Amino acid sequence: MYFIANWKMFGGLNSLNSLHRVNKFFKTFKKNKSIKIIYCPPSTLIRPMSKKLKKSQIEVGAQNCHEKDNYGAFTGSINSSMLKNVGAKYVIIGHSENRQFGETDKLINLKIKSALKSGLKIIFCIGETLKQKRKKITKQILNKQIKLGLNKIKNYNKILIAYEPVWSIGTGLIPKSNQLLDTINYIKQKNKNFKVLYGGSVNPKNIHELKSINNIDGFLIGGASQNPKKFIDIIKKTYI
Ligand code: PGA
Repeated sequence: MYFIANWKMFGGLNSLNSLHRVNKFFKTFKKNKSIKIIYCPPSTLIRPMSKKLKKSQIEVGAQNCHEKDNYGAFTGSINSSMLKNVGAKYVIIGHSENRQFGETDKLINLKIKSALKSGLKIIFCIGETLKQKRKKITKQILNKQIKLGLNKIKNYNKILIAYEPVWSIGTGLIPKSNQLLDTINYIKQKNKNFKVLYGGSVNPKNIHELKSINNIDGFLIGGASQNPKKFIDIIKKTYI
């Protein structure tokens, strides 16, 4: 099971103090379980976080990258090899918070290819908007996002798909269990090697319901992951 913390644009150096608690918990809790915890802080914290977690089994990832894997005159941008260089092992690509500002499927595909080339693993986000859900075109949308996003990529070993309905991110709403089961199955039917996570308002209260959907390989957790107690609670409750 994957538990991926997406800190979004939150956190300074003092936020790293909370890692101690999660690390301590994880050390004892993970015995005999196949759990992976990955923290994706803002880029400014990747290096100090990786240093702090050097001896830990918790891994660090980034939240986005530029599509070019070599250096270039792109003010304000960071590429995947630079992220790798400061300790990132993963990168989130295609998050709806970036798609909404013009990140296209084509650009996402370039970013994924570049990040794979740099040796990063990918957390590839897909999901439908509320409008698309109402129009009942969720599957068409997911199909397109997967097809274009993974265009000409053959090996899925290093790719995790995070299904994040846009309407559930930060809203407290989650899909109905039967719908989520059906959607995750739909994604997995596309390729048997796909690992599929769910993301969108995951919290200690709804994790019971979410974990009962037995085809989910893990969770991408935004808001709740900034609070170590909530994050630990989510992990614990997944196994109770
Ligand atoms: P949320 O965010 O858990 O705050 O809804 C999830 C995400 O955006 O990855």
